[in-house]
Amino acid sequence: MSTWNARHYLEFGAERTRPAADLVARIDIEAPREIVDLGCGPGNSTQVLRVRWPDAIIYGIDNSPEMIDAAREAYPAQEWLLVDLSDWVPDRPVGLVFSNAALQWLGDHRTLLPRLFAAVADGGAFGFQIPSNNYTGVRRLIHGISNDPVWRDRMVAPRSALTMEEPSVYYDILAGQATAVDIWETAYFHPMDSPDAIVDWMSGTGLRPFLEVLDDDTERQRFMRLFRAQVAADYRPHPDGKVLFPFRRTFVIAYR
Ligand SMILES: C[S@@+](CC[C@H](N)C(=O)[O-])C[C@H]1O[C@@H](n2cnc3c(N)ncnc32)[C@H](O)[C@@H]1O
Repeated sequence: MSTWNARHYLEFGAERTRPAADLVARIDIEAPREIVDLGCGPGNSTQVLRVRWPDAIIYGIDNSPEMIDAAREAYPAQEWLLVDLSDWVPDRPVGLVFSNAALQWLGDHRTLLPRLFAAVADGGAFGFQIPSNNYTGVRRLIHGISNDPVWRDRMVAPRSALTMEEPSVYYDILAGQATAVDIWETAYFHPMDSPDAIVDWMSGTGLRPFLEVLDDDTERQRFMRLFRAQVAADYRPHPDGKVLFPFRRTFVIAYR
């Protein structure tokens, strides 16, 4: 299991939480009694759920001790569970199974999603958001750098660390079991202060598996130098000095 840094992750907390709010706004269920937030991270997405459904019992679930500690510190009155979702099943079905920006870290969505949907009670919903496949040009840049012969052999696992299927695949997985499936994509265009801010964003999330397999700081610094230079070349400042970071995301809600 890799290490997350909650403080670093929350440097872009508003941008990272916005899809959670957009997803929650579209979930058409009245008052779920119990909600699980899968891959809750530092509790930012769980807080969005809390505001929408103030009376629900909400469990934030994550397998990162750093993230669960940060969530517990920020929201001590909330229920936080240190659990790996790889084989998680709840004790009983719950009204809403929710996940923002986490399921891409788990593999084989063709078996994962039916298992998670099975945890939804009658009348409830399963709603999740993940980055879209090819969500942004930085992913292409990272994969390009990972092909450098110096470290290419070590990059097989990082290159497949994220799982993101096409919307039609998610429809086919869920439609047979759900009463309705709502899927859409949104492209956010985040105005960033500089190309380096994009590098900083990625080093808190999608870049981590690549950096973790490198041998030492010298290799990591070289990888980062190459990445910084390519981001600076591809993402040019606008007249106001900001750099736009396009980020496409896939949203899915399945109702039982
Ligand atoms: C990008 S963060 C999302 C945090 C938060 N939900 C949000 O909306 O910003 C992804 C989270 O998924 C968690 N995660 C990844 N794999 C997991 C697994 N197998 N079991 C539980 N949590 C996992 C990570 O620890 C991390 O906190």
